[in-house]
Amino acid sequence: MKKLAAGNWKMNGTAAALAEVQALIAAHPAPACEMLLCPPATLIGHMASLAKDSALCVGGQDCHPKASGAHTGDISAIMLKDAGASHVIVGHSERRTDHGETDALVQAKAVAAVSAGLVAIVCVGETEAERDAGRTLAVIGGQLDGSVPAGAVAASLVVAYEPVWAIGTGRTPTLAEIAEVHAFIRARLTARIGVEAAGVRLLYGGSVKPSNAAEIFAVPDVDGALVGGASLKAADFGAIVAALGT
Ligand code: PGA
Repeated sequence: MKKLAAGNWKMNGTAAALAEVQALIAAHPAPACEMLLCPPATLIGHMASLAKDSALCVGGQDCHPKASGAHTGDISAIMLKDAGASHVIVGHSERRTDHGETDALVQAKAVAAVSAGLVAIVCVGETEAERDAGRTLAVIGGQLDGSVPAGAVAASLVVAYEPVWAIGTGRTPTLAEIAEVHAFIRARLTARIGVEAAGVRLLYGGSVKPSNAAEIFAVPDVDGALVGGASLKAADFGAIVAALGT
């Protein structure tokens, strides 16, 4: 299985930031892992043109479950594909919190993504209060059951484990805690989608940076990372890409 370094720019970046993308592409012409950046929708077309004939893939950060219609401000999976995206993140905790997205909505978005020909990166993760209450695995199990489409296949599904309390905080779970959750996710996916689960990339996300990437990538069942802040600079994201290739 090829590992995946995915960057999530969130609501950051204007055209000036594309210089970082040029630097990343130049520094990593043939990485050992798949390399993906998910910029704001306004930059997808630009970034996809820059990334043409390079090792960089481009993705969206969200999509609407419908293909088109009266949904002001929303973007469909078909539109992302048309703009040059190959992947889309669905169910990021910031979407779940800021926009009240439910597991059922996240699942509908994942279905739309796959039918548009995109790889869906489905995000799950517990809050700090849920971890403190010993509910981490129960929460993640529920999110997986509710958000992963029935019949999902490895070629078009990635699952990202992102503890909400680790996002943008500089805090990370212990390696043993990451291992426990990733093993649990693999088992729960196997119960849900059978043998396909073995080939689904499981990303860890939450305060991944060059200094902790290698140790996190050595954890069993960690098949890559979803990186926020450290994906904005080519040097930092490139170091994480390189850590996945060793
Ligand atoms: P972070 O964000 O790397 O800045 O913690 C990760 C994410 O939210 O995907």
